[in-house]
Amino acid sequence: MTAVYCFSGSGHSLAVANFFAKQLCCNINEISTETKTQSSKETAIVVFPVYCQNIPEPVKLFLQKMTSEYVVLIATYGKISYGNVLYEAKKMVQSQVIAGAYVPIGHTFLNGSSDFDTNALMPIMQRIKAPQKAYIPKTRKNLLADISPAWRSRIGVKLIRTNACRLCNVCKMNCPMNAIENGKTNSECIRCLRCVANCPHKALQFKNRWILQKYLKCQNKDEFKLYL
Ligand SMILES: Cc1cc2nc3c(=O)[nH]c(=O)nc-3n(C[C@H](O)[C@H](O)[C@H](O)COP(=O)(O)O)c2cc1C
Repeated sequence: MTAVYCFSGSGHSLAVANFFAKQLCCNINEISTETKTQSSKETAIVVFPVYCQNIPEPVKLFLQKMTSEYVVLIATYGKISYGNVLYEAKKMVQSQVIAGAYVPIGHTFLNGSSDFDTNALMPIMQRIKAPQKAYIPKTRKNLLADISPAWRSRIGVKLIRTNACRLCNVCKMNCPMNAIENGKTNSECIRCLRCVANCPHKALQFKNRWILQKYLKCQNKDEFKLYL
């Protein structure tokens, strides 16, 4: 039995999860703080984004309580840096990791596209059929990456509630961090921008501050990595 689990802010990781769900004819389970794996006999494919060279908090909680027999770890990243995310994820799970991949894709803060190389992921299908332990190496992570990643995102990205807001609270229903109410965020916000993507009135906008704009110019790492 195979199951796909996904955490996604602006929809890029969801596009990759959709690819796996289609290949394996299964549904996608959204990762929230309450999500649990379904069976100890399953192979779980976990798709999530890299945020500030880290694993998003709800994904960390999910990985720590996973009980699946085997796991495939897929991290999407916005062509800047993936840090050491797969190695850190491997350390968090008790299940055997049978494959891992870093998938370069559009950056949320640049309104990038969700296009990715589907062919490059195909060897994972074979590995799922014949599970075997994968080697996930340690990779380079910026020394400052662990210093308040969510706070750094909030500093870099301004979230703007426009007059189009109808106080419908669809943003609140979608927020994975319980960090927004009627278009106003609190200090729990990680700037995944799921609220922006899902606002039915297009009332939420974001603006990158100059410091982030400068950082986003470093976007030059278009590197697909597969570990089997
Ligand atoms: C809060 C935040 C932090 C990010 N940090 C990084 C990063 O450190 N390195 C990188 O290459 N991309 C980074 N990105 C880009 C995302 O990893 C990339 O766009 C990802 O595919 C988004 O997936 P999602 O739409 O499923 O959330 C970041 C995006 C967000 C929203």
